[in-house]
Amino acid sequence: MLKEINSIKNQAKKEIEKAKDLKDLDRVFKKYLGKKGQITKVLRSLKDLSKTKRAKTGKAANELKHFLKTEIDQKAQEIESKIKKKAKKEEWVDITLPGKRIEIGHLHPLTQARREVEHIFQLLGFSVIDGPEIESEWYNFDALNIPKDHPARDLWDTLYLKDGKLLRTHTSPNQVRFMEKNQPPLRIIVPGRTFRYEATDASHEVNFYQIEGLMVDRKGKVTIANYKAIIKEFLERFFGKPTKIRLRPSYFPFTVISFEMDVSCPICDEKGCSTCGNSGWVELMGAGMVHPNVFKYSGLNPQKWQGFAFGMGLERLIMVKQRIKDIRFFYNNDIRFLKQF
Ligand code: PHE
Repeated sequence: MLKEINSIKNQAKKEIEKAKDLKDLDRVFKKYLGKKGQITKVLRSLKDLSKTKRAKTGKAANELKHFLKTEIDQKAQEIESKIKKKAKKEEWVDITLPGKRIEIGHLHPLTQARREVEHIFQLLGFSVIDGPEIESEWYNFDALNIPKDHPARDLWDTLYLKDGKLLRTHTSPNQVRFMEKNQPPLRIIVPGRTFRYEATDASHEVNFYQIEGLMVDRKGKVTIANYKAIIKEFLERFFGKPTKIRLRPSYFPFTVISFEMDVSCPICDEKGCSTCGNSGWVELMGAGMVHPNVFKYSGLNPQKWQGFAFGMGLERLIMVKQRIKDIRFFYNNDIRFLKQF
């Protein structure tokens, strides 16, 4: 019996040593110390032995039991610390490394520019006003001195709705809307989306943004000189450099006299480049002195009031400043374009 115990010991020791993980070790434990384990069996068979033999064998078996328990415990600790070490090595993080930057979006270039324009005009004493995108024929045309069937309506390619209303072709209707409710003197700009029924190309979109401007005071107080001073100040702040402006005669039914305003090319300073088509000048807006009929339709006495109005394209402003060649970039949702602003 003692021999057998000895061979169990040797065998068990080898197996404990070989155990690679806790599962292996558990198997060894069960094999020797479990309910049906080899040592348990020996201990159970003690009762069949003679007294002297029983004492010796019992002692040896119990010693072996203790011995194996300690061996297994030790091995288990070894395995566990190995696992911990490995995990520590693999899961190590350098907490001093800078974190990954979370990408956040930003405002659309049109929104950025609109806010900049609003800010500059506010500094110049203008209020920022809003108006409806769905407009009546009255405000979009009639009240702006463009009678029905007048060929001047063809200047604006209009998208009509089923109920007779239309998508505003310009922001000018807000001249009348505002003057109906507010007594001059007044200074406003009206930024907003406008719509035209036309084929798109590099400089035309079916919808685009305009900024309407209107300044009215008592007769003789607001002149084209004021317009030139204010617009020059605005452009120099927007483009961030000294600019020249020039006026060319034009025609709008709701202004008299009417003109187009050009700015000296902020890219080449009049030397000629692709932005200005080598002319040195960039056409930026239509403008003029408010027509007496527009005052009349707004419920104001044209004998008493005088002022200027202008309308410029927001996209055009950015295109000139940032040298963007195609208006459609603003609406393509191409992240490569948008990311540059
Ligand atoms: N509404 C005109 C357009 O869209 C621009 C304009 C505004 C002209 C105000 C004169 C005065 O073409």
